[in-house]
Amino acid sequence: MVSEDFTAPHRAVVSFVRRNTRLSPKLQQAWETNSDHFLLHIPTDKSRKELSVNPSFQLDEDTQKEVWGEVKPLIIEVGSGQGENIAAAAANNPDKNFLAVEVFDQGIAHTLLRCEHQHLENLRIAQVDAVQLFETAIQPQSCEEVWTYFPDPWPKMKHHKRRIIQPSFAHLIAQSLVSHGVWRIATDIDDYALHIHEVLDNDSDFINIGTKEVSLAIEHVGKGNAETAQLLPHAIFTESERFDGRVLTSFENKGLLAGHIVHDLTYVVRGDQNE
Ligand SMILES: C[S@@+](CC[C@H](N)C(=O)[O-])C[C@H]1O[C@@H](n2cnc3c(N)ncnc32)[C@H](O)[C@@H]1O
Repeated sequence: MVSEDFTAPHRAVVSFVRRNTRLSPKLQQAWETNSDHFLLHIPTDKSRKELSVNPSFQLDEDTQKEVWGEVKPLIIEVGSGQGENIAAAAANNPDKNFLAVEVFDQGIAHTLLRCEHQHLENLRIAQVDAVQLFETAIQPQSCEEVWTYFPDPWPKMKHHKRRIIQPSFAHLIAQSLVSHGVWRIATDIDDYALHIHEVLDNDSDFINIGTKEVSLAIEHVGKGNAETAQLLPHAIFTESERFDGRVLTSFENKGLLAGHIVHDLTYVVRGDQNE
């Protein structure tokens, strides 16, 4: 298997580029009406890049009480986009707290609208780099689940290192999860599915609990070469059925319309993590 070089010295993963789009009047209004209430006020770290997290901010039990009113099992979505999944989950699970982490104004504005229309008091939004949030603010063993649905694919070979799922990020997620906590991931990019298997299947912090066999090319292909992957040697990997609680987002729908196959992956943190 030709795998990516995960032994290279650690460099901060920069998995997003901020798009400077103007909000429509409706979204601007949603922002003005709802951001004070639903958006976390997180101090930034001026010595680091935009949307960074000042280490003084800790999502500990006191902060959880302040933010959500009470401490409940916490589910965090990394890169929540327009908030379709996390808003649906928050509406269906009032006994849990939800945090949507997203950098993109437009996605956050849509999520704010959902919070407003559905009165989602158990959902809050953090507009920061999720990697830094997990590095500095999320407490060990404090999350029941973390979701990363359709992470930005970064299709060019030279950009694969910008994919948010990396060994260093996996380590942060493992530390954040309660014993037997779950990391749910979905992607519609075969090459990203291979990348996830390479990062996580042999990670001693996680167990892949999938039961479905999936055949994937075992060499990476770059942008525009997805078709050529069919000609490369393949191997069988283990993935999951679609998680019942994962709704169809507009992003996933575009992938399906383009003929992509969706890969669901479920990793449980080992019980002895942090013990
Ligand atoms: C392809 S979209 C998928 C959105 C959503 N999960 C869905 O299924 O529709 C990936 C999202 O991840 C966000 N993202 C990428 N890197 C991030 C980071 N480091 N912190 C927070 N959000 C990030 C992007 O802004 C983008 O909205």
